[in-house]
Amino acid sequence: MQIFKTTKNMQTFIQNYKIKNPTHKIGLVPTMGALHNGHLSLIRQSVESCELTIVSIFVNPTQFGKNEDFNKYPRKEEADINLCKSLNAVVFMPTIDEMYPYKDDMQIKLKAPQSLSNTLEGKARAGHFDGVVQVVLKLFNIVTPHRAFFGKKDAQQLLIIKQMIEDLFLPIEIVESQIIRDENGLALSSRNAYLNDDEKNEALKISKSLREASKAIINGETNSKKIKEIATKVLEGLEIEYFEIVNKKLETIKTIEKNNTIILVVVRINGVRLLDNLWL
Ligand code: PAF
Repeated sequence: MQIFKTTKNMQTFIQNYKIKNPTHKIGLVPTMGALHNGHLSLIRQSVESCELTIVSIFVNPTQFGKNEDFNKYPRKEEADINLCKSLNAVVFMPTIDEMYPYKDDMQIKLKAPQSLSNTLEGKARAGHFDGVVQVVLKLFNIVTPHRAFFGKKDAQQLLIIKQMIEDLFLPIEIVESQIIRDENGLALSSRNAYLNDDEKNEALKISKSLREASKAIINGETNSKKIKEIATKVLEGLEIEYFEIVNKKLETIKTIEKNNTIILVVVRINGVRLLDNLWL
């Protein structure tokens, strides 16, 4: 089991690995740690389809706003390392100074595409996706993977990263993974750790609302407004930040489009932002 804490050591390892194993595929699973079954499913997919899997564990400061939870974001380094070890994945766990060696005013900064990043999550979290593309491009450059694995739960992030791959001609295949839920339907997230049992129970309304939307659509409803009405009834009593029905360009749509619709919901429970979605 190998753990790399510096970019230089990680890069040297990858360069040597590629020389010794020119036909092998390298998979990257970027994470911020506090690994749960959602991450483990991404890691397993990578291990199954690539000879070498690198899991990066880095709580990226540039994607958190000033009043967000960077300091209290769950950190479980030892448990994370053991999980990666059990799955035969190599860990890249750099420090902030390793990932951001230059002072703020000396950094090259990336901007996520406006039309994809100024809406939904980006509206509530200004600059969030700039920080995400910044760190993900750095990780891609350090690890130079053939494939990178991302969950559909962070739908907007996934679409923005796919756009970056195309726009910057990056030779990396993005593998999209299904949302992983607990036995009650709650979408797994490291932030679920902030919820107590009662709050977790309340949070079940989120996936229930998406199931109601899905039922309505299976029964022939295509009108977004009506679907939203049906689904948001289930969320009564919760603080809904948004419930949107969009296409893959993240434009609001009036009618459901097959293979081109995402229903996204964000709810706050006791200050904790919980997101979930359904791809149609
Ligand atoms: O989805 C996440 O955990 C993060 O946004 C990512 C992709 C690891 C970048 O920091």
